[in-house]
Amino acid sequence: ICLLLHMNLVYIVLEKMFTMMFEKKARMEVFPLTKALAVRLTGTKYGCGGGGCGACTVMLSRYEPVSKKILRHCSANACLIPICSLHCTAVTTVEGIGSTKTRVHPVQERLAKCHGSQCGFCTPGMVMSIYALLRNHPEPTLEQITEALAGNLCRFTGYRPIIDGCKTFCKEPFCCQNKEIGNCCLEQEEKLLLFSNQEEKVSLFLFSAEEFQPLDPTQELIFPPELLVNHHAPVGGGMRQISLCDIFADRLGSNTLNPEEILVSVHIPHSRKGEFVSAFRQAQRRENALPIVNAGMRVFFEEGDVIKEFSIFYGGVGCTTVSAKQTCQALLGRHWDEGMLDEACRLVLKEISLPGSAPGGKVEYRRTLIVSFLFKFYLEVLQSLKTMYPSRYPDIPEKYESALKNFRIGIPQSVQMYQDVDAGQFPQDPVGRPIMHQSGINHATGEAVYCDDIRAVDEELSLAVVTSSRPHARIVSIDASEALKVPGVVDVISAPNVPAANEFYYFEDPEFVFARDKVICVGQVVCAVVADSDVHAKQAAAKVKIEYEPLEPLILTIEEAIRHNSFFEPQRKLEQGNVDEAFEIVDQILEGEIHIGGQEHFYMETQSVLVVPKGEDKEMDVYVSTQHPAFIQEMVASCLGVPFSRIMCHVKRIGGAFGGKLMKASLLSCIAAVAANKTGHAVRFILDRGNDMLITGGRHPTIGKYKVGFMNDGRILAVDVSYYFNGGCTPEDSILVWIFCVCKTNLPSNTAFRGFGFPQAGLVTESWIMGVAAKSGLSPQKIREINMYKEISQTHYKQELDPENLVRCWNECLEKSGYHSRRKAAEEFNKQSYWKKKGIAIIPMKFPFGFGKRSLSQAAALVHIYTDGSVLLTHGGIEMGQGIHTKMIQVASRELKIPMSNVYFCETSTTTIPNSCASVGSGGTDVNGMAVKDACQTLLKRLQPIISENPNGTWNEWVKEAFEQSINLSSTGYFRGYDGYMDWEKGEGRPFDYFLYGAACSEVEIDCLTGDHKNIRTDIVMDIGCSINPAVDIGQIEGAFVQGIGLYTMEELKYSPQGALYTRGPDQYKIPVVCDIPEQMSISLLSSSQNPVAIYSSKGLGESGLFLGCSVFFALWDAVAAVRQERGQVGSFVLNSPLSPEQIRMACADRFTEMVIALLLLKCSWVLFVFSCSVGPYFYGYYTSVWTCT
Ligand code: FES
Repeated sequence: ICLLLHMNLVYIVLEKMFTMMFEKKARMEVFPLTKALAVRLTGTKYGCGGGGCGACTVMLSRYEPVSKKILRHCSANACLIPICSLHCTAVTTVEGIGSTKTRVHPVQERLAKCHGSQCGFCTPGMVMSIYALLRNHPEPTLEQITEALAGNLCRFTGYRPIIDGCKTFCKEPFCCQNKEIGNCCLEQEEKLLLFSNQEEKVSLFLFSAEEFQPLDPTQELIFPPELLVNHHAPVGGGMRQISLCDIFADRLGSNTLNPEEILVSVHIPHSRKGEFVSAFRQAQRRENALPIVNAGMRVFFEEGDVIKEFSIFYGGVGCTTVSAKQTCQALLGRHWDEGMLDEACRLVLKEISLPGSAPGGKVEYRRTLIVSFLFKFYLEVLQSLKTMYPSRYPDIPEKYESALKNFRIGIPQSVQMYQDVDAGQFPQDPVGRPIMHQSGINHATGEAVYCDDIRAVDEELSLAVVTSSRPHARIVSIDASEALKVPGVVDVISAPNVPAANEFYYFEDPEFVFARDKVICVGQVVCAVVADSDVHAKQAAAKVKIEYEPLEPLILTIEEAIRHNSFFEPQRKLEQGNVDEAFEIVDQILEGEIHIGGQEHFYMETQSVLVVPKGEDKEMDVYVSTQHPAFIQEMVASCLGVPFSRIMCHVKRIGGAFGGKLMKASLLSCIAAVAANKTGHAVRFILDRGNDMLITGGRHPTIGKYKVGFMNDGRILAVDVSYYFNGGCTPEDSILVWIFCVCKTNLPSNTAFRGFGFPQAGLVTESWIMGVAAKSGLSPQKIREINMYKEISQTHYKQELDPENLVRCWNECLEKSGYHSRRKAAEEFNKQSYWKKKGIAIIPMKFPFGFGKRSLSQAAALVHIYTDGSVLLTHGGIEMGQGIHTKMIQVASRELKIPMSNVYFCETSTTTIPNSCASVGSGGTDVNGMAVKDACQTLLKRLQPIISENPNGTWNEWVKEAFEQSINLSSTGYFRGYDGYMDWEKGEGRPFDYFLYGAACSEVEIDCLTGDHKNIRTDIVMDIGCSINPAVDIGQIEGAFVQGIGLYTMEELKYSPQGALYTRGPDQYKIPVVCDIPEQMSISLLSSSQNPVAIYSSKGLGESGLFLGCSVFFALWDAVAAVRQERGQVGSFVLNSPLSPEQIRMACADRFTEMVIALLLLKCSWVLFVFSCSVGPYFYGYYTSVWTCT
């Protein structure tokens, strides 16, 4: 191996790596680079281990000994690179390009200063993707940037700020270049400014490009000379050529790849005259996703359009690429016309058999794609023939031409508009200014330390869990004998090893550390293996044998839970007015239901914990990725049976959480603590992505059943809605998230997720609004307007609210988006375009903020002033990407009247802030900000006499003098919390402290033949009070919005019939990537909005923006409605969430979907006939039901 890592770490890394490999007998050929880098370098992150997220991106530079050239630099996922493949290769990690100790590289600087990092876990990978691009193209185009970032996932930022940072390297202007068609983004900025209140200064800039250091390509790292001399001859061996067609065609005989052969190159010949070749694909996500179905088609004509050769291949319809050989054979000699197309579709559907039980599901959709692609190819070839022989072929009807246009991935353009600070504000006062994330530079250089980056402790052990493979079963036996034989294994830990509490009763049903007698879901932890390395721990965990005895009933879905009356208590109901009477007087009644799928948190940093027993008085340090350290402390102490005071929980920062690092993080910490307690060693427990997704639940799948009574003029008078949440197997936070009806099922327990139930409930409401619109003949926008709060009113739980800012957001959004004119334009477009349709939707939002109970929103802070004038600040909030520490430093800076650089935040710990509340519900800044303010004001009060005596003195002089006068320079601060309450008996209360308002307008275009879509534009107006940090807040809105796009249009969880999660990584579970964000996006913060109850009149906003992602869902609904109307499918219809390409395609019924359904019916009737003949009419009723199900 000739491997060189930049920096002087090369030898250390190599030495450690080899020692590790030999000691642990790891197979060198599969030992991935991430493992080697993890020895000393913290920048290359583990995100998924499967090359699907980009968190471990490094740059590879290769020297080609024959040509004596350095081949191009390329970015690569370190987790996929076997070390043995790095012959003659230089590997550059994020540490190699810049650091705070030497010089921060321009890429690192710009990404940080453009606010491109929030939790920072994806940031080093982003940096390396851009760095590799710049090494090849120092002045990249905008297209190259989006292409370079296509493989890097970010769950937090919404990508816009990352793109903004990258754009600063482009030579071409940042503008969209659409001036000539009157749709230029710069003009949009000017238009937006016109809407602003003239008395307020509005700003459009979140960073200043002038302060960036220039990129100087001559200063970059050179190819290491050591590699130029150390290269060896290439590996020898014979070469052979085989036909690519044959590889795909039958995979038999000598024309296939042998296991020991490597594909070196693919030669694609030029097409001949009269030959046409095309390729098609449709995936769950446009970039970085395996196709659901793809196809390659080729036709060669003789004598004009007589088919001489024809090849059709499909992927995604079998376990290998499949050739439609017989179809092609049958069509030889035919003319390229409609008759041939019909025959081709019929034959190909017959030949490419896809049984109803085919792996991967989506069978009807995949069959439809098979013929839809064929149709596209037919039109493409027809168009080419028409160009070649204009007089011989008829024109393709204009509206059919839309089938031929592929969606072009545009370069996202954006505008962010916020109210500038008052001209009179002290320049040093940072509140209200777009300040960079406190850890931005450390994120970008890879120096930011996350839980798994903490250096190994002496004799530390790794832990791997053994989880249940059954959804509901009694545990008959656990046999760990084989596991204990694996080298390096120290122990196997299970329920009997828990010293005190193994079950926790926060509600009626318990939470479990280890399963004891029975398992209640696939993925429940049964036992754990501790070993000297994670490789050995995992190997041993796989050898633990558990015998089960199945238990009844098995409940997986909401429908099954309703059938078995399986619910968690309490179930609640809210009533307002007399709904029955109202139903009597309405003109029309709409009844229906909508299904909303769950969502995986997909925080980039998986669940992680390091427990270090201190060896004295049962003290333990717990370093953990959590939103709630006090809860971890409580559960670990209770589990071990020690006082809380012995457990010290520390959190520096976490790589995202979104509600997923509360109860589960505590249970996982207990597992590690029990292992550490038993073995006396430090125990590190880092969940890999697959297990993280399997074990931890996510957002609750929901069904909303509704009955709505309304008048013909659009007024809604009566609504009766039942909401059902799939809570999974234990209550966790479900009862808090969803107070009405939580189903108890045999799935891993679902939990809190950004929005806390609102995104599902809101979607149900907006869906029946669509139904009312369809039935009343009015537009959804009109129905929303008619029924919107207009004056001071009461909610259905009788809390008063003033909707003024809701109405302002709505009206501003209508204006800024140009909703009415764009709606007309979309309708015009739809008239001209049969196979592509546009849709547009505007959605209002009233998002409640509050915890419903004072004790849940109390907060504390601790501020020390040292004699050198520096300030150490801590509080109970957790930094998970939302910029809370940055905002707290802004607060301290304003209150103490010192620069932010004087204030430092180190970590959140139960040793400094006891009994802190969870960082949840968008409330971190609100409540901790109050506490920090309180502590700082106490300190300033103590210093005031000294300042008054020496008003011209400096901060340092005052602090020194205070010390001389024995004045306490340390203070705690406290906030007692908001006074919310709810009386469920009476169905009234004041559970929320205030409301956030907003509106979003989105426009999309769909491809009716494939179900693909493109997000064209989104305009958001949000009322967030007075922003403490507009850069952070706008980033939160955008990030949440993009996560909402994922929830409502893309992210699909799939389970086996036995409740095992199939979608266990980024390969199967798709979250939005850079090309999924709207091409144009504008965010405006509502001006002149005050919120007297919160710090500096701000509002907690981390969650609210997610719901606005449903504006894309309803824009898609609008486009589908346009298709159905054109094709005579009148009446209301319902689309479920996520509105995937499959749902869109199948809702756009046409001749191809009909062909598929007709074939299906034919097959069903044939099956029915065969069964009837063989077993007689006795079972007829049964077959009828099978028929119906099918
Ligand atoms: S900033 Fe991108 S995942 Fe955290």
